[in-house]
Amino acid sequence: MKGKALPKQFLIKNGDIIDPVKGERFIGSVLINSGRIEKVGKRISANGATVYDAGGKVVTHGFCDVHVHFREPGREDKETLATGAEAAIAGGFTQVCAMPNTEPPLDSPESIRFIVEKAADLPVKIHPIGAISVGQQGKELTELGAMAQEGAVAFSDDGIPVMDSGVMRRVLEYAGPLGMPVINHAEDLTLKLDGQMHEGSWSTRLGLSGIPDVSESIMVNRDLELASMTGGRLHVPHVSSAKSVEWIRGAKAGGLDITAEVTPHHLFFTDEDLHSFDTNYKVAPPIRTENDRQVLMTAVKDGTIDCIATDHAPHTVEEKEAPFDWAPCGMIGLESAFGAVWKVLSELGMNLEEVIHCFTINPRLVMDFEEDLFSAGTEAELTILDPDEEWIFAKEHIHSKSRNTPFSGESLKGRIKATITGGKFFKL
Ligand code: DOR
Repeated sequence: MKGKALPKQFLIKNGDIIDPVKGERFIGSVLINSGRIEKVGKRISANGATVYDAGGKVVTHGFCDVHVHFREPGREDKETLATGAEAAIAGGFTQVCAMPNTEPPLDSPESIRFIVEKAADLPVKIHPIGAISVGQQGKELTELGAMAQEGAVAFSDDGIPVMDSGVMRRVLEYAGPLGMPVINHAEDLTLKLDGQMHEGSWSTRLGLSGIPDVSESIMVNRDLELASMTGGRLHVPHVSSAKSVEWIRGAKAGGLDITAEVTPHHLFFTDEDLHSFDTNYKVAPPIRTENDRQVLMTAVKDGTIDCIATDHAPHTVEEKEAPFDWAPCGMIGLESAFGAVWKVLSELGMNLEEVIHCFTINPRLVMDFEEDLFSAGTEAELTILDPDEEWIFAKEHIHSKSRNTPFSGESLKGRIKATITGGKFFKL
């Protein structure tokens, strides 16, 4: 994907500006000078700047995804940092946090430095997340402080749960004073066993072994207890079940300072969709029932769930074409995220400003990133989108190196038109 270098003075005018930090929405302009925000306002004169007319389009902060899997190092046949960045730009994302379940895992200061250095010249900010345990084996803690110094922004063994409660306690204790979130993949493996999909009437009908919803909520509850005990900062990833939402809602009501994310696919699909036996629906945690989906949507609306995160998980065609039981879990998600989420949440009655919060300011607050992207002097990171465009997602919209998505053929609402990041303008 080729972006155009931003002209020295660049004026985006006539935009439907949504400022998620100030909570303002107005028709206006954004002036970018040498790649940095100079001014955002109702009337800004061009004064010789190159002008882009954003009439009819929303102009807002670049999106931030706190949960992607780019497969570098080790599985560059699935995704590299560079191709992952392209997929991000196509989805309107200007910052992403990359999970450490690479081959080998990002479990040392050196591996964190590898990602930071390799990603430095890419137009998207890729923040590495360090592994919690050496080799993601769930036993020995990694060098958390040294990884933080090298640029790790959080800790997670995602893909694999931390089964040992003592290890989970210690990582929360150590990461807390570093101000870093701990993200545990909540699936109790003794309940998950060799489960292939959500345990319920559809798993029975399809003859696929089931994963009960409590395999997630039991571990979410454990993690909340440990966060309360240690004062550590827990971020609950890819919440999939109504029961987990209940625990998170209760903990927040009790004043616990924790955050949570949901994926577009858990908001969009249900276990019934697996009747096709399409392995692209096979994800961890699994897609659950219509009731779970409704509860997840309500949880986004009432703030129990803070942000949308894609869990973009590329896999090869060969692996995904395996029999259902053998295929790996995961789907790509960056390119389809906004169209999928805005479609279902607008139907629920959420407004655009609320949904944009979940893609911009809220994920940045989870990670403690600078969230006021419209303040003067900030490097320009903008997403320009048409919220009303209805479109059918197709393979040609994919920029990832992998193709594993069940969103192909789905009708989505809201389309990214341009992304400004890394000093470049990417027209989509
Ligand atoms: O479906 C998933 N795939 N869930 C995860 O947590 C890991 C991911 C992957 O790395 O493929």
